[in-house]
Parts: sequence; C-alpha cells; structure tokens
Amino acid sequence: MKKLAGKIAVVTGGSRGIGAAIATGLGREGATVVINYNHSEAEAQAIVKEVEDMGSSAIALQADISDAEATKIFIEKVLEQFGRIDVLVNNAGITRDKTFKKMSFEEWHKVIDTNLSSVFNTCKIALPSMLEQKYGRIINISSVIGQAGGFGQTNYAAAKAGLIGFSKSLALETARGGVTVNCICPGYIATEMVNAMPENVREAIIAQVPMKKLGAPEEIAKGVIFICESEYMTGQSLNLNGGLYLM
Ligand SMILES: NC(=O)c1ccc[n+]([C@@H]2O[C@H](COP(=O)([O-])OP(=O)(O)OC[C@H]3O[C@@H](n4cnc5c(N)ncnc54)[C@H](OP(=O)(O)O)[C@@H]3O)[C@@H](O)[C@H]2O)c1
Repeated sequence: MKKLAGKIAVVTGGSRGIGAAIATGLGREGATVVINYNHSEAEAQAIVKEVEDMGSSAIALQADISDAEATKIFIEKVLEQFGRIDVLVNNAGITRDKTFKKMSFEEWHKVIDTNLSSVFNTCKIALPSMLEQKYGRIINISSVIGQAGGFGQTNYAAAKAGLIGFSKSLALETARGGVTVNCICPGYIATEMVNAMPENVREAIIAQVPMKKLGAPEEIAKGVIFICESEYMTGQSLNLNGGLYLM
C-alpha cells in the first residue's frame, strides 16, 4: 500500500524545480496530484505525465496565486472536481533581489504577494473543507533566508519569515481540528532559482554550506512526505539545508 493512496494533494508552483519534485514525490506515494502553474504550461503537463506514468492521477491547473480572486477560482475548481483537499503544499515563490536602497515598491509588493499573501489566498479557501473532514496537511515552503536573513533580500526574507509566523499561528488555530500546518525551510537547492545566480555567487554560497553542495529538489519532497505521514508535528519548521543554519 502506498503511503498517500487516496489522498488529494495540491502543489502550487508544481511546474518546475522544488514544486515539480514535490508533485512527483506525492504521486509516487499514490496521491492524486493537482499541479498548479502560472506560466509554464508545457512543464506542468510534463509533470502530469510523469505522475501518470507512476500509476497515479494528476491534472495541471493554471492560476496566478498572488491574485486572490484567481486563487479562489482555482481552489474551488479543485474542490468541485475532487470533493476535498487533503494536502496543500504552498510552494510557489519568486525572488526579486535588490539591496533595500535600490528596491522598488513594485519589487517589494510582487514578492510579498507571490510568496506570502498567496498562502493566505489558498488556505482561506481550502481550510474550511479540511476542518470539515477533520484532516489536512498544510505545508508551506519557507526558506533559510526567512530564518537567517539574506543580503539584498529584504522582500524575500520578510515573506519567508512571515510564512513561519503564519504557520505557527494557524497551527494553533487548527490543532484540535485534525489539520497540521508546518513549514519546510530549504537551504540552497539546485533549481532555476539558484542557477540564475551569477556563477561566482553560487560558488561562494556552496563554499559556505557545511556539506559543500547544493541540495537536490527531491530532498524537499522527502520532507513533504514525512510531514504528510506525521500525526503529531504541527507549527514546526523542518530545516533541510546541508547544515547551513543550525537552529
Ligand atoms: N531553490 C532554492 O534554493 C530555494 C531555497 C529555499 C526556498 N525555496 C523556495 O522553494 C519554492 C520553489 O523554489 P524553486 O527554486 O523551485 O523555484 P523555481 O524553480 O523558480 O520555480 C518556481 C515555481 O513557482 C511558480 N510560480 C511563481 N510565481 C507563481 C504565481 N504567481 N502563481 C503560480 N505559480 C507561480 C512557477 O510557476 P511558472 O513557471 O508556471 O510560472 C514555478 O513552478 C519557492 O517558494 C522558493 O522561495 C527555494
């Protein structure tokens, strides 16, 4: 019996990088996976195919999760089609790095809306059905940057730290309702987000990591499966960072 057989899982930003690895990881464990994307339709469809090849069901749905109305339509569509959501992985995120002095209002709001307000948007619509069935796993992909801060990342660090506070608070509100709310705080993971950095910056980052390597996206997927299985873990952050930041 697969660990997540019969479960309905939604992954925001499941078209690429960490989200794609989470979607295939959930599919491998038997979950039906809803893969949200914004722009990368072909990539999202390729992940659907990968999950189907594993013998699980998947669909791809477009929605800009920074847009509250579009997110409402997206989550309601999932609830209409599948009747419920058991696992919600809030993974979608972007960076718009600039030192504070140079950061525009637009760069601030874009990152806060995409990385933080999006999680309010999805949870607002998905949570009532989880509480009704007395079961849910909400997993928010934060970052080591939300814990340690990051040069040129006031917008990103604020959003990712915000997710940690959000998760602790919602965990308290849902603890008796069968719904757990946790974060994963990845360190530096080998995806386009990190590959987009100048090579010298990337090399300098790797040199700082005690394990001297980037993490694989599949490591984050393993964390998601662990949290899905855990009955007693809520309001926590799972730090998957190669020893970069020790709490
Ligand atoms: N990579 C790292 O080292 C690292 C470290 C710590 C935390 N994280 C976090 O992990 C998450 C995934 O990062 P990644 O490295 O996999 O990034 P990535 O490769 O750049 O992929 C980002 C994903 O988010 C989606 N997305 C972005 N804006 C969206 C929106 N408005 N609506 C819906 N989907 C949207 C993208 O979809 P489309 O392509 O379809 O637009 C894509 O699937 C992010 O929250 C990131 O902050 C990453």
